[in-house]
Amino acid sequence: MTTHDDPTWHPETLAVRAGYDPASAGNSAKPPITMTSTFAYKSARQAKDIHEAYFSGTGPEAGKPNHIYARLGHPNLDMVEARLAALDGAEAAAVFNSGMATHSAIALAHLRPGDSVVFSRPIYGGTNGLLTQFMPNFGVKPFAFTDGCDRADIERSVELALAAGPLKLIVIETPANPTAAMVDIALIVEIADAIGMRTGTRPLVVVDNTLLGPLMQRPIALGVDLCMTSLTK
Ligand SMILES: Cc1ncc(COP(=O)(O)O)c(C=O)c1O
Repeated sequence: MTTHDDPTWHPETLAVRAGYDPASAGNSAKPPITMTSTFAYKSARQAKDIHEAYFSGTGPEAGKPNHIYARLGHPNLDMVEARLAALDGAEAAAVFNSGMATHSAIALAHLRPGDSVVFSRPIYGGTNGLLTQFMPNFGVKPFAFTDGCDRADIERSVELALAAGPLKLIVIETPANPTAAMVDIALIVEIADAIGMRTGTRPLVVVDNTLLGPLMQRPIALGVDLCMTSLTK
């Protein structure tokens, strides 16, 4: 939520208002489109401070809503990210160019050589390829379970993954594409918590919420760490 947002707004209102203050743009009811890739600064000093704030999080510009390059952030992206975070009930959101760019960024950010990952099957073909064909090239070991409502089936693949290396991610898609198979989100969170207690390393739980979206399913409220949605759906 940004400062002008009202925490009592219903999802229908969040979907059209969150993250945008009309007063910031001459009271335009709809946000103007920002057509730039680069941004101007008052001085070379300020440019340096803004870059330092972005890359190191330090200096006099840290925490301010500045931009340095549109791919990294721009006013419209800020608005969409704030709106998606509000709809998901998340602390923050990051927008990528596609759903698979999101899955790839999650995997590359959180998996290291020797780590294992557990995922639900069926899962979108691109995600399956990422986890079973691409990530093993970097030493990551994938393990799947097929009944996302059966604790024993999930725990079987979790034990194999723990024996193979530190288990860092549990990636689930529910309902799944294309069969609409369900995974019990709360059960997965419970299992991740138990792994954390037992090993000292709690795997992050990632939910692909593409098929229902945040208006019909709110995984963050069930305790998951990362929730992604492919907006093309
Ligand atoms: C469940 C699910 N997740 C992820 C993706 C990938 O999204 P994108 O096509 O935006 O890369 C898709 C695409 O169909 C999908 O159905």
